[in-house]
Amino acid sequence: MSKTEFLSVALTEAFIKLIARQTGLEIRERDEVDLSEKIFLRMKALNILFPEEYYKFLGYSTIESYQEWQKLVLLLTNLESYFFRDKEQFNLLRDRILPELIQSKEHNKTLRICSAGCSTGEEPLSIAILLKELIPDLEQWNLMILGVDINQEALKKAREGIYTPWSLRSIDPEIMQRYFLHINNQYHLDLQIKQMVKFKYINLVKDSFNEHDEMRDMDLIICRNVFIYFEASAIAKVLDKFNQILQASGYLITGHTELCGQDLSHFETKLFPESLVYIKKTFDKQNERTFLSQL
Ligand SMILES: C[S@@+](CC[C@H](N)C(=O)[O-])C[C@H]1O[C@@H](n2cnc3c(N)ncnc32)[C@H](O)[C@@H]1O
Repeated sequence: MSKTEFLSVALTEAFIKLIARQTGLEIRERDEVDLSEKIFLRMKALNILFPEEYYKFLGYSTIESYQEWQKLVLLLTNLESYFFRDKEQFNLLRDRILPELIQSKEHNKTLRICSAGCSTGEEPLSIAILLKELIPDLEQWNLMILGVDINQEALKKAREGIYTPWSLRSIDPEIMQRYFLHINNQYHLDLQIKQMVKFKYINLVKDSFNEHDEMRDMDLIICRNVFIYFEASAIAKVLDKFNQILQASGYLITGHTELCGQDLSHFETKLFPESLVYIKKTFDKQNERTFLSQL
């Protein structure tokens, strides 16, 4: 890359702010050169000569700008994921949280789960496998497992359900045997498990969840290794949206320490040996808190 292909300090700052507003992603100082390279790459693809022009283009409310964001996001997002990532948290889900939810929902046999920032699908599909193992009369349940992400390429892969051994590096060999077909060094996920999960493009920061019919009445939201890449204000915004779509006493699970420094007044925290989890306070408890703070 030639020397002239670097962004000025002011423009770098402007792009960083724009990206944070649009996606929540925080570009750290050490990643600024990388960002500059990605921006020039996109400009080249669009035949745009000046970064100022590209910056303006991203700010428009046009279809073309929306499509460009989708392409830029492919370069900015980290897609690292694998089945049963963080075994401890999955053990907690398998042994405590999911059995408890299943029991409390036995009366209407309805469960609604969202994996927010699901990348290539390993997280929601691991939950689908657990539910298949835990619910004997699964066909009588109305299950919704929704995987949402901002990266369209990741969602495409998630819908295909074909994985490399690297994605299965942490899976129990028996589970692997039961739910994957090994063909030419790739692992094809069982169709029944695949059909349990719906994948959808949603930008957690920018999109209004009201516009997505599925984004309501969640019993469990799992959002791990997403907020580590976010600015604090974007985390707060998404946390507020999660609070709105969780049912009373619904669970929120994030990666360890991802909510440090955030206002968690709408949640009770529950510490298990395996992980901290957040439970949405019931209406009464939220009101009680507001009442006490006014005294
Ligand atoms: C490192 S992956 C985490 C995948 C999975 N949750 C896990 O823990 O294995 C982070 C994901 O968050 C997604 N992401 C980043 N910003 C997002 C946003 N604003 N809305 C939705 N997804 C986003 C990325 O595209 C990426 O797929």
